[in-house]
Amino acid sequence: MSDRDETESTDGSAGSDPTDRSDADSTPLVRRVTDWDADRLADLAAEHETPLYVQDLDRVRENCERLRDAFPDADVRYAVKAHTGQAVLRSVREAGLDAECASAGEVDRALAAGFGGERLHYTAVNPPARDLDYVVDVAEAEPDLTVTVGAADTLDRLAERGYDGRVCVRVNPGVGAGHHAKVRTGGAAKFGIPYDRAADAAREAAERFDVVGIHAHAGSGIDPEQLDSHREMVSRMGTLARELAEPDSDAAGNGDAPVPLDLEYVDAGGGFGVPYEENEPPLDLPAVAAATREAVAPLPAGVDLAIEPGRYVVADAGVLLTRVNTVKPTPDERVVGVDAGMTDLLRPAMYDAYHPIRNLGGGRGGDGSDAPPPVDREATPVTVAGPICETGDTLCKDRALADPVRGDLLAVGIAGAYGYEMASQYNSRPRPAEVALDDGTATIARRREALPDLTTAEREAETPTGPTGGER
Ligand code: LLP
Repeated sequence: MSDRDETESTDGSAGSDPTDRSDADSTPLVRRVTDWDADRLADLAAEHETPLYVQDLDRVRENCERLRDAFPDADVRYAVKAHTGQAVLRSVREAGLDAECASAGEVDRALAAGFGGERLHYTAVNPPARDLDYVVDVAEAEPDLTVTVGAADTLDRLAERGYDGRVCVRVNPGVGAGHHAKVRTGGAAKFGIPYDRAADAAREAAERFDVVGIHAHAGSGIDPEQLDSHREMVSRMGTLARELAEPDSDAAGNGDAPVPLDLEYVDAGGGFGVPYEENEPPLDLPAVAAATREAVAPLPAGVDLAIEPGRYVVADAGVLLTRVNTVKPTPDERVVGVDAGMTDLLRPAMYDAYHPIRNLGGGRGGDGSDAPPPVDREATPVTVAGPICETGDTLCKDRALADPVRGDLLAVGIAGAYGYEMASQYNSRPRPAEVALDDGTATIARRREALPDLTTAEREAETPTGPTGGER
């Protein structure tokens, strides 16, 4: 058992572990769910109702700063898919990070947040025609935008649209890592040009486009135990960069070395993990940075390292607040029903992901009187279940929480990355609201959806279809 366990009370409010801070001056390496101000969260939930996401922009800025400090010579590109809120995007831009976008929609949001073309990187994954049309259009006005391409025919599709601008070649490095098989991209055929074909593909691409970089992404949520795989991937990318930018050093003077490519960067992707579990230590970012630099070295002159963290920037800057609706004791388990489910936070249902949960109290006991504060309640193993008609709709199982009662507020921690982003309207549940905290001031960043939002697309449909549809 760690020190954290020994000092933790039943509401999980022990506060930051000293190992969460690298030294007295720096910002904490992680913000645990226990570090949030419980009264403030309770006030926000009372004012804006639940389920409610709270995203702290100050923490987003701190995370950006720690990344820039650890990788001072690298281009740091925020993987927008982790959290696309405008307030977050603006904060990230102001903190000096670029934007890595996976769709036309993300490019559109990044443009709206003020990212210019030179700071926009569009990663085309099996891109729909509509996305390519849009991005090629944007590139006309913003010629410094870069398109990262992981399939030869995507290059053809770009050329067909008259695009001859900046291209980065996405490589499948043959080695993956990540918190779950569903997010290990490195070895998956879907992503990137196979490593042994990548050099030829990049050279062929250079005949039609301005090839400025090579890219690989091992996967998402890489924990300290998987850093060897990440290093192996980075090292392969360093070798490929040398082969492309300094081909004569390989060709041993046989006179027919390929033309060197004028690469600007090697993009080693994102994937920096965050500690979801209470006892998990935070990633030692400076050590990861040193190992990355060592593995990719020596980079050819003029070629920089680039990274694309998403989760690391926003995960611990967000919590999801949810209210206890029902408590059902059964012979097997105690089921605590809450108003947030897999439609608000999909990660537990989709990846069996662990999110820390803290009971902030505020509910009433069976006799209607105020329940004691969580710190005075017994830690009780519970299943926290959402309102969706699926057995998998649980936020945790068999988790010891300060015994929840009806009306209690629960804070689900480390929910700022891939939380709201993966929310849906399944079961016709309107998406939750989100509040952004900026220098302590709270503003509504995304309003709560209401029932009419569920049918907007149907009501606005221009051409009725189906059995009783109108003219075709
Ligand atoms: N770059 C590329 C090309 C990516 O595909 C991704 C994530 C990233 C960067 C950022 O990875 P990060 O630093 O956030 O780990 N929904 C999943 C995560 C899927 C990530 C997909 N790609 C989850 O909730 O864990």
